[in-house]
Amino acid sequence: MESLLKVADLRVTYGRAVAVKKVDLDVGEGQAIGLIGPNGAGKSSTLLAIMGAVKSQGTVMFKGRSLHKLQPESVARLGIAIVPEGRHLFPSMSVQENLMLGRLARRPGKELRIDDEWIANLFPVTHQYRERPAGLLSGGQQQQVAIARALLSDPDLLLLDEPSLGLSPTAVNTVFDALGKIKALGIAVLLVEQRAQRAMQFCERSYVISEGEIRLEVKSKTEEDISAVVAAYFGRSA
Ligand SMILES: Nc1ncnc2c1ncn2[C@@H]1O[C@H](COP(=O)(O)OP(=O)(O)O)[C@@H](O)[C@H]1O
Ligand SMILES: [Mg+2]
Repeated sequence: MESLLKVADLRVTYGRAVAVKKVDLDVGEGQAIGLIGPNGAGKSSTLLAIMGAVKSQGTVMFKGRSLHKLQPESVARLGIAIVPEGRHLFPSMSVQENLMLGRLARRPGKELRIDDEWIANLFPVTHQYRERPAGLLSGGQQQQVAIARALLSDPDLLLLDEPSLGLSPTAVNTVFDALGKIKALGIAVLLVEQRAQRAMQFCERSYVISEGEIRLEVKSKTEEDISAVVAAYFGRSA
């Protein structure tokens, strides 16, 4: 399959701290790919580097084009959207106003795959509570708004940074059900998760990252293989 996103030899440092030592990964068109690893492994830094939100070294290619030195706004205009860790909604702005920010990143002239109606069907609460300040919604509802906002830019690749973190089991199911529908539309997903088991089951392939380096690429979905990865890299908690 042709590569949509190709990351090679990625390195991210914050001053003298090395957050990402060497990350190589590939996302094919329309694929759901996992990036799983313990806290502090370099997952968020990898996504931020792809977006151009932190400085990095190495190669990031999207649709055959280098993203080197592009600002996040330019990366977004090429068709990548991010749901950041912690959601980053504007709490005092209404849900509707938060969603509008996603629409601003739409690419002019492109036929829309995702419109307001599709979003309202995917996450009814984003429509039902559209006039409410986003900060008054529950954590699960806010995560839906954050995903909806990213989707409204109509991306070809959606980066998600621990979308299930801190959510109730029901809210986690809502998120994963939505990811299935997003993937069914042909949108590629790069999913960062500490909930390793769930991510490996959902994704076609998953990369295991620890201490800033990719350690393993998991394709198997058998329970034994998934349990072995969890035991080796995550202890019992995932
Ligand atoms: N802004 C920052 N300044 C300094 N160190 C950071 C910064 N952000 C992350 N780090 C460090 O980089 C490493 C990787 O962090 P991060 O990419 O957030 O990992 P993960 O998302 O897997 O938890 C960690 O050791 C973290 O403490
Ligand atoms: Mg993180």
